Amino acid sequence: MRLQFNSHSVPVVASGSTMSQVPKVKFFNGKEMPVLGLGTCLAKGDEVRQAVQLALECGYRHFDTAALYENEEAIGDVLGKWISEGKVAREELFITTKLPMIANRAEDVTKFLMMSLKKLQLSYVDLYLIHFPVGMKGKDENDILPKDAEGKIILDMDTDLISLWKAMEEQVDAGRAKSVGISNFNSEQIDRIMKSCRIQPANHQVEIHAFHQQKELRAFCHKHNITVCAFSPLGAPYKEEAKDKPVLQHPVDLHGCRWGKTPAQIILRHLIQLGIVVIPKSTNPERIKENFQVFNFSLSDKDMRDLDSLDQGRDGKIFIFKDSLLGVSNHQNTHMIFHFRI
Ligand SMILES: NC(=O)c1ccc[n+]([C@@H]2O[C@H](COP(=O)([O-])OP(=O)(O)OC[C@H]3O[C@@H](n4cnc5c(N)ncnc54)[C@H](OP(=O)(O)O)[C@@H]3O)[C@@H](O)[C@H]2O)c1
Repeated sequence: MRLQFNSHSVPVVASGSTMSQVPKVKFFNGKEMPVLGLGTCLAKGDEVRQAVQLALECGYRHFDTAALYENEEAIGDVLGKWISEGKVAREELFITTKLPMIANRAEDVTKFLMMSLKKLQLSYVDLYLIHFPVGMKGKDENDILPKDAEGKIILDMDTDLISLWKAMEEQVDAGRAKSVGISNFNSEQIDRIMKSCRIQPANHQVEIHAFHQQKELRAFCHKHNITVCAFSPLGAPYKEEAKDKPVLQHPVDLHGCRWGKTPAQIILRHLIQLGIVVIPKSTNPERIKENFQVFNFSLSDKDMRDLDSLDQGRDGKIFIFKDSLLGVSNHQNTHMIFHFRI
């Protein structure tokens, strides 16, 4: 099932889909991405193994990881087992991983994607993203988030997004990635890539939730036929910065209780009906199941308007990278930011 578009070009999902029929968004190249996937940030080892196992049993077929999360090997253990035992075909899965910031150089892309593929026990990923537009300098490939004695990020000031993108395109040529994309880019950076690319970005992964809906950036991506994936779609409630922005506790979300739906289900459904891919993270068995139950109801136009109105624009942003990645704002690629408050 694919997302449909109504007369205002607002995508809506046909109701009545079942667990195994997760709707998909279509990329410019014809490849399709399930609108719901499992996020895996901050989950490692057995915790993520169990979460992926349960998610597969629930019907999830889309998983989001990154070299930075240091959990590709654990996820690969489960995927490899399911594929080798014939419980799932590789083609049924949609796996995203990301180039770490320490590899934001053209000459490093192949090496780092090959390392990710080996850990994931896969011969290709469905989507390979540049995780962040800013490059960093690690001591070695395991120094994934390099910091100096003062806790400041060690930056690679030579990051060149254009040559880096060319190396991403080569991953598609070589069959290591079906599609390539970006994450945490602003529209100026995307524009530069669009003007020089041979293979365009298929997807952009950015922070999006009810309080930070990225309306301008989404319109910009839509214009360029770049699909959008919301990270932290539940408002990253585990983060200190989210304490005064509790997306899941807003009264409007609770309107969903009319249908016996939880705030998380309403929040996810809102984004899905906007045509946005969501990747909520959970390692809790009940919540993994809960987050998947979003295809058997739909929000009315009035519900959608109520949820749209929760947007706080830039003030709703939770990931303030200049604080969490100390020193990052000194990098040239954080300049000229307009849609993206770093
Ligand atoms: N590209 C990037 O730079 C970037 C940045 C951040 C995240 N991401 C990706 O996006 C994924 C999701 O983002 P996120 O993990 O930051 O935040 P999120 O999905 O908005 O929130 C995850 C948190 O919500 C809790 N939770 C999950 N389902 C819930 C429910 N139904 N009700 C109440 N609480 C629930 C989880 O706890 P339990 O596990 O205990 O359920 C976890 O603490 C990440 O895992 C990662 O894959 C990408």
